[in-house]
Amino acid sequence: MAKAPTSRIDKLLSSMGYGSRSDVARIARAGRITLDAVKIRDVTKRIPITPDLPVYMKVDGEALDPVGPMVILMHKPLGMTCSHKEEGKLVYDLLPARWQRRVPAISTIGRLDKQTSGLLLLTDDGALLHRVISPKRLVEKTYRATLARPLDGTEGALFASGGLLLSGEDKPLAPALLEAVTETEALLTVTEGRYHQVRRMFAATGNHVTALHRERLGGLILPEDMSPGAWKLLDEADISLIFQ
Ligand code: URA
Repeated sequence: MAKAPTSRIDKLLSSMGYGSRSDVARIARAGRITLDAVKIRDVTKRIPITPDLPVYMKVDGEALDPVGPMVILMHKPLGMTCSHKEEGKLVYDLLPARWQRRVPAISTIGRLDKQTSGLLLLTDDGALLHRVISPKRLVEKTYRATLARPLDGTEGALFASGGLLLSGEDKPLAPALLEAVTETEALLTVTEGRYHQVRRMFAATGNHVTALHRERLGGLILPEDMSPGAWKLLDEADISLIFQ
């Protein structure tokens, strides 16, 4: 079995948002960091970085935060933004404050608009992020769209055609699947992640999306009992579902 990588304790805890290296040294000197219940005073000591480290290491009596890489599934609420460039509360504010200081940083995997709710993934694993958003992977995303006007029956064929050109773009959209739920509600499954894609697709048919919610990404489905703003860490089995 491959040996686990090692890190100095001060470097590791600093990269996990516990403070600068000198902050971590100060916390240790105060006897607040333990490994196997033994107080760690020398933070220059190297330790193996393994996923079960939080079982052995505690800070202020609490299990260490998860060591990376991590993947988070969140029920994004309406009114929060995925980008620091937009105004409003950020989805990152829903995570523990310390996690915002982690290096590598946690980013959203793709984005949902401020006025879109539903399944959002976040990760500090750059390679995974690129695999999920790569157009070559064709990861399906299913949205439930509520519409201002009734469907006219032509949308399904247009979206499936692979010929729909959104305004201002020069490459047609890949085929997408529309399933009407009612006259004014539809499930739309797309494999791309273009800017405001679903809203612009319905706008191209003369309609208007009044509510948008993402229910599925790959084989991951937003759990019905997960309330807006709630999140959970995914394990390896969950992560593999993304590409199913
Ligand atoms: N399409 C949109 O229009 N908005 C989203 O948030 C996601 C897909």
